[in-house]
Amino acid sequence: GHATVRVDPAFAVGPLNRRLFGSFVEHMGRCVYTGIYEPEHPSADALGFRRDVADLVRELGVTVVRYPGGNFVSNYRWEDGVGPKGERPVRLDLAWRSIETNQVGTDDFVDWCRSVDVEPMMAVNLGTRGIAEAVELLEYCNGDDGTQVSERRVAHGHEQPHDIRVWCLGNEMDGPWQMGHKTAEEYARLAEETARAMRRLQPDLELVACGSSNRGMPTFGTWERVVLERCFDLVDHISAHAYYEPHDGDLDSYLACAEDMDRFIRSVVATADHVAAVRGSDKLIGVSFDEWNVWFQARFDGESSLAIREAPELIEDVYDVMDAVVVGSLLITLMQHTDRVAMACQAQLVNVIAPISTRPGGASWRQSIFYPFALTARHARGTVLRPAVVSTAVDTAEYGALDQLLLTATLDEGSGDLVIFAVNRSRTEPCELTLDVVGLAGSAAGGAGYRLVEHLVISDEDPHARNTEDDPERVVPGAGTSTLDGATLRSVLPAISWHCIRLT
Ligand code: AHR
Repeated sequence: GHATVRVDPAFAVGPLNRRLFGSFVEHMGRCVYTGIYEPEHPSADALGFRRDVADLVRELGVTVVRYPGGNFVSNYRWEDGVGPKGERPVRLDLAWRSIETNQVGTDDFVDWCRSVDVEPMMAVNLGTRGIAEAVELLEYCNGDDGTQVSERRVAHGHEQPHDIRVWCLGNEMDGPWQMGHKTAEEYARLAEETARAMRRLQPDLELVACGSSNRGMPTFGTWERVVLERCFDLVDHISAHAYYEPHDGDLDSYLACAEDMDRFIRSVVATADHVAAVRGSDKLIGVSFDEWNVWFQARFDGESSLAIREAPELIEDVYDVMDAVVVGSLLITLMQHTDRVAMACQAQLVNVIAPISTRPGGASWRQSIFYPFALTARHARGTVLRPAVVSTAVDTAEYGALDQLLLTATLDEGSGDLVIFAVNRSRTEPCELTLDVVGLAGSAAGGAGYRLVEHLVISDEDPHARNTEDDPERVVPGAGTSTLDGATLRSVLPAISWHCIRLT
């Protein structure tokens, strides 16, 4: 296969939104307990958080982290998780049929966010609870008026308000599995009144209404329209969630699943813009893609069969090279929509379908999917360009014929650095890439042209190679082969591969 690409600074999607490199910490399985938090661990800090995990989180380059769920939030009492740890109640979490010790709660999570330099993004319970509890949580976190609720935070050692800007109005309320699941109309009314009340306290919040749990939901499209017809003036963003895995062994469609994400984003944007049109409004509602990843749901029997335990091992998928390529392709697609995707959160951060794995009391290591995320977050800078791509096709059962090559590029206007992110999504064919840089001088030698800094690749003779505790560096980025001749870059991208090519 082959592909010809032109990148030109005249064709830009927009400034790279760094909130695309978000993640998600849910009270689920071992994401919190023995994931980010383990006071008995040799690396634990004074607050009980694992330093080894914190180091990996920093290396991953995460910018914003959604919390505390997920399905968990829909039956969560936030009051249980604040105050002296010895007085916090042990509860049953019915979302994951788990024992919740509440040793980590809102204040602890915000402390952790500050220590790893990420922005917290909070969800309120609109499943089993409602407006009053949501507003009280907001007041507890951000209040500064000496009221009883905000003074509780001060009494718990947090003099300064947490200043949390982004709030999710519930989680996956369209899903019948959700505690307190609602119809679109029921949810739209509750979200509308919750948003109105929260804005009375703090008008400048960023509020996220629940959209659809995936593009295949029977209410998809209608749900977004009904919710936005009610909440349009009161919210900033609407959520989208998507998890990908091979279906019936169809790896070609799996490798191309970024196409589903692309169509999903386009449909949500079209629906939001339709509601705007009917209202005669120019407001652009953002898409909060606040759960996305590869998740082998076929391997999970569902929560109803779970024995009730504390910090159980739940959905600890082990990812291979192919999964890393897919994750890289999903990040490319998110960047291609940087103008309308307000944030994106990979679900989840540690152990639970996660780029970081830990052993309780022991090691932590990077899964294969860690690398495309970390390298994209580290090297993507400036403006996302809209490349012109002419590529040989791959045939997929789910999406029809698609370009074999998926590619995006960022241009840092200050330095002139150009970074190309690309995936060859063919399972069998290499792709010969010819990329012309148009209208760009490059920064090397004072604008006389570009120099190739490095070409990193994730690919392997065995696409099912994975990292494990015993072999944690089986899958790491390698060096790709590219040549730069004037303004023309030539590379050969092996089948099933992800690339980061840096020019300066
Ligand atoms: O991330 C795992 C679960 O997936 C979340 O709790 C839920 O929101 C989604 O269905």
